Amino acid sequence: MTIDQETLRTGFDSAVPDFDATAPGVGAASPEVDAELTGMVECVSITEVTHNVKSFELFAPWMARIDFEPGQYVTVRIPELERERCYSIASAPFGTNTFTLTIKRVDGGAVSTYLHDVLKVGDRIHVDGPYGLFSTSFHPAEKHLFVSGGSGISPIMSMVRSLLARPAGTPTDIVLIHNAATPSDIIFRPELEQLAEVPGVSVVTMCSRDSAAEVVESGSEVRGAEVRNTEVWAGRRGRITRDTLAEVVPELADRETFVCGPADYMAAVRIMLDELGVLGSRVHEESFVFATSPAERLARKERVAEAVGAPVSGTSSASQAAEGICGGSALARFGIEFTTSGKHVDCDSETTVLDAAVEAGMVFPSSCEEGMCGTCKSVLVSGEVEMNHAGGIRPKEIAAGKFLPCCSTPLSDLVVER
Ligand code: FES
Repeated sequence: MTIDQETLRTGFDSAVPDFDATAPGVGAASPEVDAELTGMVECVSITEVTHNVKSFELFAPWMARIDFEPGQYVTVRIPELERERCYSIASAPFGTNTFTLTIKRVDGGAVSTYLHDVLKVGDRIHVDGPYGLFSTSFHPAEKHLFVSGGSGISPIMSMVRSLLARPAGTPTDIVLIHNAATPSDIIFRPELEQLAEVPGVSVVTMCSRDSAAEVVESGSEVRGAEVRNTEVWAGRRGRITRDTLAEVVPELADRETFVCGPADYMAAVRIMLDELGVLGSRVHEESFVFATSPAERLARKERVAEAVGAPVSGTSSASQAAEGICGGSALARFGIEFTTSGKHVDCDSETTVLDAAVEAGMVFPSSCEEGMCGTCKSVLVSGEVEMNHAGGIRPKEIAAGKFLPCCSTPLSDLVVER
């Protein structure tokens, strides 16, 4: 689970204004149930999961209980690196004040290599969240299909663990398909084997090749030496196909389906599910590899809007207002006043507030630019915007007057605290 855009547009200080020794979580005296999962968390344990995946158990001392939905993610910020990334929570919300991130070490990935190579038990990192709409909580169903590739299994396991913790007697009908490159890359392998024995749960683990084959193919003594567990995979082999889905998933079209993995993996699975007659509205995806072109961004937003049933907007009258303003051929133009910097910026009704600010030379914290990570969150002092976010802001934050400039276009003149 990774974000490709690690380089923030601005210095880290402005991206994390509350990052200091007095921030929540540092020496807070009385734990609160309703506090946000935003602040400094302490690493209380590190577990090796595979040769390049570790689980980090993190402790939020200011909270009595962390309130998140299974499948949601947090934004991790490493101040020394001036970098941040989104990571799914792998643990289930079991009413404690710890949670677990299971993270693959990505070659060249600054945050993941820091977490793997530098972070020690007792160290603290900054998290912000929880965010995201990829959760069984938001799409209740009796039958579930989970499909994951590689480290995409993290949010899937959070949801499966949560479903299995429901009261005794709750009907359970879960199919979990996990794809790994080799047997030594299977994340949560012992737990997957145990899950396969649970009534109502079917687990299909697939490997593209044997562990030993990777040594031969790499042609690298160094990389070969890293493969510790050579193993010929005796289970189902190859990549997931339409035939695989049709064969191993009974009542496929009746299931709420959750897919997480690399972008090309999810795209391939989406096509297969469509060809097998699964409604797109029942398929939910999560990916932190963000699209970069306007067309890709738009396509992603349309998928998110379709998944939640309607466009997500700042106000119920937002779309109507936009139609009225944009009824002619020329785009409406608005003024944006930024109170902290004192800047005044022009912005048309199809340009995001973030883009207008950056084009005007403003320093503005941002990362995903797709309404996921929460980095650009700002206070809308006055005015109205059309916001199409992807889970990077909580309903209570919207109610408190905050918004995400990266995915918001103006519907009126605005005053923004920034
Ligand atoms: S930059 Fe990620 S939510 Fe705005």
